[in-house]
Amino acid sequence: MLTSFCWTTFDLTSGLPEDWGRDIAETAADADFREFPRTPILSREAEHVQRIPRGRVYAGEVRRRLRWLYQLYHTYFVELAQQACNEPVMPALDDRYGVVLNVQRGTSMRFECHVDSNPLTGLLFCTDHQAGAGGELVFANDPGADLSAVDRDCAVIRPHVGHLIFFDGRRHPHYSRPLVSESDLRVVAVMNFYTESYPESTRPPDLNRHLFGEA
Ligand SMILES: [Fe+2]
Repeated sequence: MLTSFCWTTFDLTSGLPEDWGRDIAETAADADFREFPRTPILSREAEHVQRIPRGRVYAGEVRRRLRWLYQLYHTYFVELAQQACNEPVMPALDDRYGVVLNVQRGTSMRFECHVDSNPLTGLLFCTDHQAGAGGELVFANDPGADLSAVDRDCAVIRPHVGHLIFFDGRRHPHYSRPLVSESDLRVVAVMNFYTESYPESTRPPDLNRHLFGEA
C-alpha cells in the first residue's frame, strides 16, 4: 500500500490583504513563548521529552487581532481546502482551536513531533526560509516513526511566505525543525478543518482538556 505523504499547495502571494505580513509580524511578536508540555495521545516525541519550547498565538487573539485571517479561514480557505479533499470540508465551529499561529524565534524552538487529530490541516506560511536556514516542516512516510526516525524517510517542505498547504496529518508524524539563525523568526498560521466522514465531534476530549482545561 502506498503510504507516502502528499499535500496540496496554493500560492496566495497576490491574494492576501495588503499589509497582512505586518499584521502577522506584530501579532506574532506578542506570542506566548515558553516550554509547552507534550501533547497527550498525539505526541510522537521520545518518552523522555516532556516539554518543547515554542511560541503560540491563541485562537482568541487571532480572532481579535487578525480578523481577516479568521474570516478567510471560514470562507475562501474552505473553498481551497475543498479542492484538496474529495468530500465536504468545514472549518471548526469551536473558536478555541480553529486557527492559531505557531511561532519559532531563534534556534532553541521547534514544533513537537506529533500526528493530527483532525482529518485536514491548512498551514499558511507567513515567513520565508532559504535552503539550509532550518524551519522546514518534515513529514514521516512511516506512520510508526518517532522523532528520531522521521528524517530517515520523509517529505521536507520548506516554508514560502504566502503559500497555503493542505494535508491529512493523522497518519504521518510531523514536526518543524529549529531555525539555524538566532535572529530568525518562523511564523505559520495553523488551521483545523473537518470533513463529513470525520467531523469535529471526533476531536479527542483529552486534547481539549490538555489545552484548555475543559473538554
Ligand atoms: Fe500537525
